[in-house]
Amino acid sequence: MADERLIVALDFHKFGDMKNLVSELGDSVNFYKVGMELFYSVGTVAVDWLKSQNKKIFLDLKLHDIPNTVAGGLCSLMNLGADILNVHAAGGFTMMKTAADRLREESARAGIVKPKLIAITVLTSIKQEEWYGALKISEQVVHFAKLAKDAGLDGVVASPQEAKLIRETCGEDFLIVTPGIRPAGSDINDQSRISTPAAAIRNGANYLVVGRPIRAAENPREAAEKILAEIKEI
Ligand code: C5P
Repeated sequence: MADERLIVALDFHKFGDMKNLVSELGDSVNFYKVGMELFYSVGTVAVDWLKSQNKKIFLDLKLHDIPNTVAGGLCSLMNLGADILNVHAAGGFTMMKTAADRLREESARAGIVKPKLIAITVLTSIKQEEWYGALKISEQVVHFAKLAKDAGLDGVVASPQEAKLIRETCGEDFLIVTPGIRPAGSDINDQSRISTPAAAIRNGANYLVVGRPIRAAENPREAAEKILAEIKEI
């Protein structure tokens, strides 16, 4: 029943709270995102536990440093067995290429399946008014997506509003992961460049990352199932 296009963000501080949500969602959700709040708090335990439950994992630690440091960090994370890892495209072409090359070499050497490596383009919380770049946000996102593709990455994280442009520019095989998902009528919170689950899929997203609309719902399983039903119709 689980549709792997839905990735639920486990933005919890406590391991117990995370386990409760995963248990409550049961077989309706198979893919989870572990981000900095959970990882900085409980470390690798969260990833190990999710793997013991046969769940897929997007380890969203958004690495951003000089090329050698990011590549080394990713190779350490690779050993945890997550399915997707990520870096900030703002780290530049050389950083992304060094990271992608090293991850490919190290996973081949270790005889394990290479985790997908994707790049954060422009955070979905940033509005045009507060944007500091010279290009328009959508132009910057497409520029970062092309850079990530040329550097050998598997895809990007972007707003669902930019998914269509990225798909047109980077082709069918390029992964597009979209946070900033808000089912009709739900709270926007600190997000800004948002869309509904159906619109994100229609625009070409492969994966939707959803946090608070499920986590903060009175009935998280019902909220997840509603999103799953909405994307199944596309
Ligand atoms: O609660 P909400 O649905 O807004 O959660 C979105 C999740 O996606 C958060 O964990 C956030 O860190 C993550 N994310 C994002 N925008 C990005 C990259 C990741 O919102 N560009």
